[in-house]
Amino acid sequence: MAAASSTRLFFAAWPAPDVQHALGGFARSAQRECDGRVVPAHNIHLTLVFLGAVPRERLDGLETLAATIVGEPFTLAVDHVDYWRHNRIVWAGVKECPDGLTALVKRIAQVLTGAGFQLDNRPYVPHVTLLRDAARAPAQNRLAPIAWPVTEFALVESVQLDHSHLYEVLQSWPLGT
Ligand code: 2AM
Repeated sequence: MAAASSTRLFFAAWPAPDVQHALGGFARSAQRECDGRVVPAHNIHLTLVFLGAVPRERLDGLETLAATIVGEPFTLAVDHVDYWRHNRIVWAGVKECPDGLTALVKRIAQVLTGAGFQLDNRPYVPHVTLLRDAARAPAQNRLAPIAWPVTEFALVESVQLDHSHLYEVLQSWPLGT
């Protein structure tokens, strides 16, 4: 079968295994309370900028552009959990959005828009999806903080499988160098 001519892409902060493991454990305990489907630990991430379908021939150019992006490392204190009723997502977030995160998201969006990519212009709400199709909000919003040092950003491909997604980190770039 011929390879698809476009692919679904997004920029993300991809956690190290210990952070993924901690958030994955939290997703499993939230599921006991809220039902829904757990995002497997190996898929847990923070989207920075969502691109959607991109023609494969633009991939090399996109990676070249990403390599020009300069940002500073920051640490996320993932310290609360919330529920979006409209899409039945339970997600983990940060009370304080670090300046480094705001600046990085803005910079990626600027560079992509400047190169002709069309982006969603809804305000950015940093969130780490833990459960999909959740039936209810968690009773407690506070979470014992999980410190997530973000030292690089990644371009990720989302591959639709029969009943799930596989996220593949295509390339990542360091922050602060
Ligand atoms: P979500 O977890 O809230 O669904 C891959 O789909 C990643 O991009 C997910 O983290 C998803 O967020 C995020 N994303 C952001 N905007 C999106 C959109 N318009 N459609 C699908 N995914 C989007």
